[in-house]
Amino acid sequence: MEKKLRVGILGATGMVGQRFISLLENHPWYEVVTVAASPRSAGKTYEEAVGERWKMTTPMPESVKRLVVINVNEVEAVAAAVDFVFSAVDMTKEEIKAIEEAYAKTETPVVSNNSAHRWTPDVPMVIPEINPEHFEVIIDQKKRLGTERGFIAVKPNCSIQSYAPVLTAWKEFEPYEVVATTYQAISGAGKNFQDWPEMIGNLIPYIGGEEEKSEQEPLRLWGKVENGEIVKASSPVITCQCLRVPVLNGHTAAVFVKFRKKPTKEELIDRIVTFKGIAQELDLPSAPKQFMQYLEEDNRPQITLDVDYEKGMGVSVGRIREDNVYDYKFVGLSHNTVRGAAGGAVLSAELLTAQGYIKAKA
Ligand SMILES: NC(=O)c1ccc[n+]([C@@H]2O[C@H](COP(=O)([O-])OP(=O)(O)OC[C@H]3O[C@@H](n4cnc5c(N)ncnc54)[C@H](OP(=O)(O)O)[C@@H]3O)[C@@H](O)[C@H]2O)c1
Repeated sequence: MEKKLRVGILGATGMVGQRFISLLENHPWYEVVTVAASPRSAGKTYEEAVGERWKMTTPMPESVKRLVVINVNEVEAVAAAVDFVFSAVDMTKEEIKAIEEAYAKTETPVVSNNSAHRWTPDVPMVIPEINPEHFEVIIDQKKRLGTERGFIAVKPNCSIQSYAPVLTAWKEFEPYEVVATTYQAISGAGKNFQDWPEMIGNLIPYIGGEEEKSEQEPLRLWGKVENGEIVKASSPVITCQCLRVPVLNGHTAAVFVKFRKKPTKEELIDRIVTFKGIAQELDLPSAPKQFMQYLEEDNRPQITLDVDYEKGMGVSVGRIREDNVYDYKFVGLSHNTVRGAAGGAVLSAELLTAQGYIKAKA
């Protein structure tokens, strides 16, 4: 790319926003030129607005420190400065729906982490390795919005990243019943242990709204485009429990599966490690070389050893074994704020750029 695209980040001061800032430092295609957050941060420099709240392990990039934070609601001001935006704001669902559409209507593509538009029929919710063809509905969404280049694309919830890709790789064996329990890190709530000391040595058996997302969103990923809308798949049925655990980064899933065509363990492992998609074929800048790895050791995947696999963009799988109630069980692990949030959105934006949906404003 001759000239980098100008990027704005909505919710730039939050946990996911900070992850965007870190991941986009030295990105070959994108340059962060605008940071936006709540009225509390607006008018301050990014460095002042974030202050002690910087939660990344790498230092705050020099290039953003002196950017002045704009109020997310100043849509025209942000839109005038950027080619597209990433969205990770914490507002009500209705507010997020409205603000993301307002940005799209200024001809600014929005690649969002938020859940607000995940079930809007003509908004694609994509994991590039799984359902890139869903970007086709953008053309119909633009007709509805009355835009030429503005649209919204979203990514799914962080919880499903540890098992939905695995089940996708096993599609030929026709999984039809899945029981999953997720063990989710505190960064998924935008927190670390300083903000949330009550989590040290603790487990909370409830994450608001998470179980429904974990059961339903994979079905939308596996859905089909029909008449300009995504129609969700009906199988496999998934039931899920989501637990908050004292882990900083990394969502683990313990999963049981029944198959119509029961495979061997070797076949299951083979399909995981050979699985790849368009992100690998196009060699997108943030694509993991290998999307999923299989670990043979009984005590893997582990958070401390495996969460950063492929710079947090890959999925680690282990403990595949036969079960006496279901056919097989396994454990999956992925990084919730990298692949599960900002990194997943960056990869989607890269695919949208490679396919010509996102380009420089004239
Ligand atoms: N953490 C994850 O792993 C994860 C994964 C997937 C999706 N998400 C979603 O991504 C979004 C952000 O999550 P997070 O964990 O980064 O949250 P967070 O750390 O609480 O950050 C929230 C961001 O939204 C801004 N904000 C809050 N109220 C606002 C308002 N009224 N108007 C405009 N901006 C406002 C905040 O700005 P100030 O700093 O000025 O308050 C901050 O930049 C949420 O919708 C979350 O559900 C998170």
